[in-house]
Amino acid sequence: MCNNKYTNMPIKIAIFASGSGSNAENIANYYSKSSIFEFPLIISNKADAFVHERAKELQIPSFTFSREDFLAGEKIITLLKEHDIEYIVLAGFLLKIPTVLIDAYPNKIVNIHPALLPKFGGKGMYGHHVHQAVVDAKETESGITIHYVNGNYDEGNIIFQAKCPVLPTDTSDTIAEKVHSLEYEHFPRVIGEIWG
Ligand code: GRF
Repeated sequence: MCNNKYTNMPIKIAIFASGSGSNAENIANYYSKSSIFEFPLIISNKADAFVHERAKELQIPSFTFSREDFLAGEKIITLLKEHDIEYIVLAGFLLKIPTVLIDAYPNKIVNIHPALLPKFGGKGMYGHHVHQAVVDAKETESGITIHYVNGNYDEGNIIFQAKCPVLPTDTSDTIAEKVHSLEYEHFPRVIGEIWG
């Protein structure tokens, strides 16, 4: 693996997260002793999201944008460019990515979805809603999908999937735990494979 081939500097990645941010933390820690990637920014749409606490611990500046500012795109793109951000990772980020941002980062934004797309994706399918839908549908497996981001929720090209069994005794909580384990195991590695 190498750094940015033109500058020989670490490749700069911004992480977007709306909630707890355990994936954001896991990714930043995974690469903390490496010079391949740098994570100079964490961006959220929620000022009270726990990801800001994690960002403090990690000593990564974190920012909150209102829904309006986020969807308008301009301010966020300015911030990203000021920090020389080359790629964006969505790790539990709930707002739809506006076209202007997708155009500024074409095929350079990836998302993780906590189910096996194309099942259980789309608007409203996030967090426990996804896992409860898996329980309700009596699925025998679930998992994670890492995919590129395009203009429609959860429809960009799939990069990687991993599965876990769903037992009749599983609840949305126990599925969430299994899915999180898969996320921690695979998401940082896959980021390295596509951008490293
Ligand atoms: C993860 O399950 C992710 O797949 C989904 O939201 C959850 C975020 O968890 N999109 P965390 O904030 O990283 O702990």
